[in-house]
Amino acid sequence: MIKVISVVGARPNFMKVAPIHRAFQKVSDKVEHFLVHTGQHYDYAMSTAFFQDLEMPEPKYFLNIGSGSHAQQTAKIMIEFEKVLIEEKPDFIIVVGDVNSTIACSLTAIKLGIKTAHVEAGLRSYDRKMPEEINRMATDAISDYLFITEESAEENLNKEGVDPKRVFFVGNTMIDSLVFATPKTEKSDILNKLNVTENNYVLATIHRPSNVDEPKQLNSLIDLFDFIAQKRQIIFPVHPRTKKMIESDDILNNRVKSITNLILTDPLGYIDFLKLMINCDFVITDSGGIQEETTFLQKPCVTMRTSTERPSTIKLGTNILVNPDYDSIKNVVEKILNNDKKTGIIPPLWDGNTADRIVEIITNKIFK
Ligand code: UD1
Repeated sequence: MIKVISVVGARPNFMKVAPIHRAFQKVSDKVEHFLVHTGQHYDYAMSTAFFQDLEMPEPKYFLNIGSGSHAQQTAKIMIEFEKVLIEEKPDFIIVVGDVNSTIACSLTAIKLGIKTAHVEAGLRSYDRKMPEEINRMATDAISDYLFITEESAEENLNKEGVDPKRVFFVGNTMIDSLVFATPKTEKSDILNKLNVTENNYVLATIHRPSNVDEPKQLNSLIDLFDFIAQKRQIIFPVHPRTKKMIESDDILNNRVKSITNLILTDPLGYIDFLKLMINCDFVITDSGGIQEETTFLQKPCVTMRTSTERPSTIKLGTNILVNPDYDSIKNVVEKILNNDKKTGIIPPLWDGNTADRIVEIITNKIFK
């Protein structure tokens, strides 16, 4: 029996790991697989709701790390995860994405001599001010196996001198979750609840430190939402980081609440959010994963960032990268509002079967 642990910590991890767990269930005679949740995200809306929506089992361990500075969070995860590894003696660790839990757990496992794979490896924004970029580079440098989602990852890892034998182009497990969950969106009544109709509203999210931590920048993005709200309803599920920043400024807080057509919500569950993506006019965001989900759904996406680690969403997909200043974004948005919309194709191997390929490689190549 091979013992495999997958690590989850923050919201974007859950949809990447859920299909891997399901795929391992098909070979449960050969592999014991369970989850460790670091507790980096702990709110019901940021964590528990996703376990329900994605039909994931309870994690065997919940490390209860919570918030903190990067060093505190990363260090606490390492200390607690090391105890689990010593107790469980797993054969293999899977980390996903680019959050602090990803680097903390890969570093801990590899130093104990446990083989480790990074799912969604090789992505690079080449912006070292993003904490996620540091997490990506460090995790890829030390992980034994690198499962990649798109062509650019292969090129990036090549440039970094990574042995191609460590790299496997498998596709995107986040798209596996999307394919799995799409039928369930039929039952979601989120459109009624928010009082919007199909193709008649814009879906907006912002949470990157570079967009929300500076009051001036956050204010200019709210100006932009105000502009959009004059033409369309705009649904804005507010991330805890963004909420904290808005609430710390009374003037901004009152203003946000007073914009007619700007519909504020708490962070939404996976199925409701997916339903909103499927039925919106377009998405405006600074997220990583949403760029990929909209590309798969062939919905226009305006990404308000200076760089993206997911260039295939631009090259092949419906994503448009725009410098996050008011005028630049307004220009792009005006075009889309006038129905000048970018079309795209779905990148190779984003087919809903990525987790099966990963499990096949682990069980038949790595542990043959
Ligand atoms: C983290 C990830 C980011 C990912 C994002 C998705 C890192 C470095 N960043 O950023 O890559 O895109 O998650 O959500 O790992 N908070 C709550 N409740 C929660 C979680 C957080 O209130 O359940 C608050 C925290 O107190 C903190 C803030 O939100 O002040 C930000 O949380 P944190 O985990 O530090 O980073 P994110 O911005 O969520």
